[in-house]
Amino acid sequence: MTRCANETDTGLGLGWTPPDPFVIRFETPRLLVRGYELTDAEAMFDAVSSSREHLLPWMMWARAAHTDAMSSAHYITTQIMALRDRAKFSNVGIGIFNKQTGRLLGGTGVHGVHRDTASAEAGYWIRTDATNQGICTESTAHLLSWALGAQVGGGLGLRRIVIYCSAANVASRRIPEKLGLRKEVEQRADYFVPGVGCTDRLGWGVLAEEWDCSQHQRKEP
Ligand SMILES: CC(C)(COP(=O)(O)OP(=O)(O)OC[C@H]1O[C@@H](n2cnc3c(N)ncnc32)[C@H](O)[C@@H]1OP(=O)(O)O)[C@@H](O)C(=O)NCCC(=O)NCCS
Repeated sequence: MTRCANETDTGLGLGWTPPDPFVIRFETPRLLVRGYELTDAEAMFDAVSSSREHLLPWMMWARAAHTDAMSSAHYITTQIMALRDRAKFSNVGIGIFNKQTGRLLGGTGVHGVHRDTASAEAGYWIRTDATNQGICTESTAHLLSWALGAQVGGGLGLRRIVIYCSAANVASRRIPEKLGLRKEVEQRADYFVPGVGCTDRLGWGVLAEEWDCSQHQRKEP
């Protein structure tokens, strides 16, 4: 996103490749974060359809996706297939579940993986009735530990994670702020939000050596 037009991912550089086998599953104090399964389709449709007003205008996919359980099943199938095609892997959506009840609370994921710099963007959404309980902060802290953790320990082995959002999205910008990530991007009028207009793009980044994967927090500078 913030790359130059001619800055193509050549596959050179660090030459990151996904772990093999590629399984996504980790726990936090309250949550189970795992790859979607086809049996999640009904719950996914319920979570998105009951939260559409709150997801918009920030998650534009919420306008037309997950219109019924079948379309959620289609989405989940593409996420399962993304993990199987290791040569082309660059994106995956991941489910956030209540560890006790198994209820689907939202989604997270790694997107736009660049193999030359071993970097990716993290994203998130939480269903309306589970917001403002620290769920996103908790899941994102552990997502960073998984994404930046070594592959031999079950991590993704990436070197750098970024989080972008519109400056108008006050709830979203609190997540990297609360996690103490480094603010790296402030691009004026670079992020169009329907109903709001051109807003500033904000971005935060963290490197593997800056993140304590056992304490799920940024190391002291
Ligand atoms: C952004 C989102 C994922 C946050 O999920 P969450 O589980 O509620 O997040 P947390 O509870 O961990 O933290 C939310 C923070 O935002 C704050 N917040 C929420 N709404 C707010 C508002 N309208 N104004 C100011 N602060 C707000 C909360 O007070 C909290 O901060 P605090 O802990 O300092 O009090 C959720 O609101 C969401 O799904 N939004 C729609 C989708 C989206 O915007 N995704 C990100 C796209 S970049």
